[in-house]
Amino acid sequence: MPQNKVLIIDFGSQVTQLIARRVREAGVYSEILPAWTALDEIKGRDPGAVILSGGPASVTDQGAPTVDPKILELGVPVLGICYGMQLIAHLAGGELAGSEDREYGPAELEVIAPSPILLGLPKNSRVWMSHGDMVKKAPQGFAVLARTKNLDVAAISNEAKKIYGVQFHPEVHHTEIGESLIKNFLKTANLKADWNMASFVEKSLSDIREQVGEGKVICGLSGGIDSTVVAVLLSKAIGDKLHCIFVDHGLLRQNEVAEVRDKIAAHYRLNLTVVDASELFLSRLSGVEDPEKKRKIIGHTFIEVFEAEAAKLGKVDFLAQGTLYPDVIESISPLGPSAVIKSHHNVGGLPEKMNLKLVEPLRELFKDEVRRAAAELGLPHDFIWRQPFPGPGLAIRVIGQVDAERLAILRKADAIVQEELRAAGLYEKIWQGFAVLLPLKTVGVMGDGRTYENVIALRAVNSVDAMTADWVRLPYDFLETVSRRIINEVAGVNRVVYDISSKPPSTIEWE
Ligand code: XMP
Repeated sequence: MPQNKVLIIDFGSQVTQLIARRVREAGVYSEILPAWTALDEIKGRDPGAVILSGGPASVTDQGAPTVDPKILELGVPVLGICYGMQLIAHLAGGELAGSEDREYGPAELEVIAPSPILLGLPKNSRVWMSHGDMVKKAPQGFAVLARTKNLDVAAISNEAKKIYGVQFHPEVHHTEIGESLIKNFLKTANLKADWNMASFVEKSLSDIREQVGEGKVICGLSGGIDSTVVAVLLSKAIGDKLHCIFVDHGLLRQNEVAEVRDKIAAHYRLNLTVVDASELFLSRLSGVEDPEKKRKIIGHTFIEVFEAEAAKLGKVDFLAQGTLYPDVIESISPLGPSAVIKSHHNVGGLPEKMNLKLVEPLRELFKDEVRRAAAELGLPHDFIWRQPFPGPGLAIRVIGQVDAERLAILRKADAIVQEELRAAGLYEKIWQGFAVLLPLKTVGVMGDGRTYENVIALRAVNSVDAMTADWVRLPYDFLETVSRRIINEVAGVNRVVYDISSKPPSTIEWE
């Protein structure tokens, strides 16, 4: 009996991980292997089914990635998606055709022949296409299952061998029948739905133990969910061999350090050093206005402090990082690095500099899956549902020059925003809501006197991935409460304004 898992062979599609994700959502464990994996290795892993992903190349190009044709003879169901389908057709003797026009975007699929993988699906549905080449003639032994207006062969199958191919992408949400099709495919392999977050945690623990062995690991804890989940996982897996370092750059929100120390580290017995480096960061930031300079200074200073602290621990072998799948895609994008709008602060550069190997247990997960893993690990609800917070912290929300006084003003105003968002039940409904301290003063009147004080801007946005965002239509009463409280309670502020710009063309943060 093959194992209850799917092997996904990756031909470089931007959305390969989504295939893994859909398979996971259907309750089946999956692993992604690069296209060049040898057939013996694939056999050795004993998969219950194989999926060949999409990819940017042309199957017939010289040097295009391929697989051993015997992959079609393993005796387990195979599903080819886009490039994967073309490869199946090519290897099985079908005919391919290049196309002048890439077909990209939605298309209407028409089912023309029954198949177990199309069971229960409507005759017509919208699917998402992204391809240049196409299958012109299905190989012998294969039936054509579906077509679109531009494509005579949009899905094929060899039912006797349980080999399937679809030209569209069932893994993306825009393909209405995608989820059902993948579930149907898993059924053809008789795979049981026994995979869940608990299994993910179990597997991560054993993978970490295997990778780390007797080595020593350091982990930078930032107070965010990703690094915390990594730290908790590692501490469960290897206990005292993990050492966490929290660099307090003094740019955090109210009570943040205490929260991490009291709620997380105490509860999970993390081996933790908190380094208060706020004075160093503030002195380096003194007089700096340019947002990118601020980010660079913070990034470099972070590395310096982290490194100095790590040096006190003696020989260290690994650095644990909360890299998520979207970070991985960005860094390997075949389209090259996209234009840098804002250089995000992370611990990039550290591993090479310190000669450390990486442990990245969340590499295959998306943000919402990390939240589910956090829940599985028993992290507190409030913590799991914290809104994203930028690495450089409040430094990029104090517009212009940053100093202790201005940080204190912003911190108080921000705490009021957070408190009121929670009180109004809005906190978990929006992507991010925060205060920004502007570098200008305006005139006001308090009591009988004229004031000349700071302005706080409120920002609240909805987003799914931070790539685009829309400003939230916050209720006027809510805005009124927050504005009144900030002006009454935060000395040095006499005006509050609300930012009603979307991204693009604005960004979420002001710097
Ligand atoms: P922008 O302002 O680029 O923000 O629309 C998109 C998302 O990224 C966060 N952000 C950062 N996160 N380091 C980070 O770790 C940074 O330098 C940084 N700048 C922006 C921002 O809060 C939003 O969620």
